[in-house]
Amino acid sequence: MKVYGVTNVKGGAGKTHTTVHLAFQAAAHGQRVAVLDLDPTRQSVNWIEVAGLGIPALHIDIKQADLEAYISQLRDEGDFDAIFIDTPANDRDASLETLMVSDIAIIPVGVGSSDTGMLGTTERQVKRALQLRPDLRPYILINRGKFAPARERQTVEECEKTGFPILEARIPLRGDYQAAAGNRPDGHHYAQVWRELNA
Ligand SMILES: Nc1ncnc2c1ncn2[C@@H]1O[C@H](COP(=O)(O)OP(=O)(O)OP(=O)(O)O)[C@@H](O)[C@H]1O
Ligand SMILES: [Mg+2]
Repeated sequence: MKVYGVTNVKGGAGKTHTTVHLAFQAAAHGQRVAVLDLDPTRQSVNWIEVAGLGIPALHIDIKQADLEAYISQLRDEGDFDAIFIDTPANDRDASLETLMVSDIAIIPVGVGSSDTGMLGTTERQVKRALQLRPDLRPYILINRGKFAPARERQTVEECEKTGFPILEARIPLRGDYQAAAGNRPDGHHYAQVWRELNA
């Protein structure tokens, strides 16, 4: 069982889109998938239910539940190949707890003037987690790209400073992605992300 934690304390970076699209990709590739949504707004759970994706999706309040114990229970039960964890904005505890149970951390970063502003906080969290869990593999996913090249270059340069690998597959800014919540999330850019993560 592999755990994919999707974190960025910055709001609106694309965490929920990344979670649901990649969970859909994993399921399409025959994996037994579940989504854990730590966000009290439950946007991943809602999307998966409304779109009828047939992926088990559960909201977890980490103030009440022990995420680490729950993940280790899921590992023992062996019912899933891939767990995707969506995290809320501005909740450092939820992000850090997610990093502490993840095999792969995906950090979506939106292209935009304010989108790298809080990257330092996420970077510090990932580095803290890496000290305790050196096998954690963090990746940055550039989101809302291919629209403003100069700004995208600037965003990529900021991301490079973290030292974390940046996925070659990037998600463009597109109306169908913007309106994807609640629909079948079958954008082919996420298929590229999934292939790259599993290369
Ligand atoms: N590639 C894209 N192109 C256009 N719009 C996008 C794209 N990706 C995400 N969006 C839009 O950006 C907004 C934020 O996306 P999303 O909800 O996935 O981010 P988030 O990090 O989960 O936000 P929050 O921190 O509030 O949970 C949404 O309105 C979404 O429709
Ligand atoms: Mg979200």
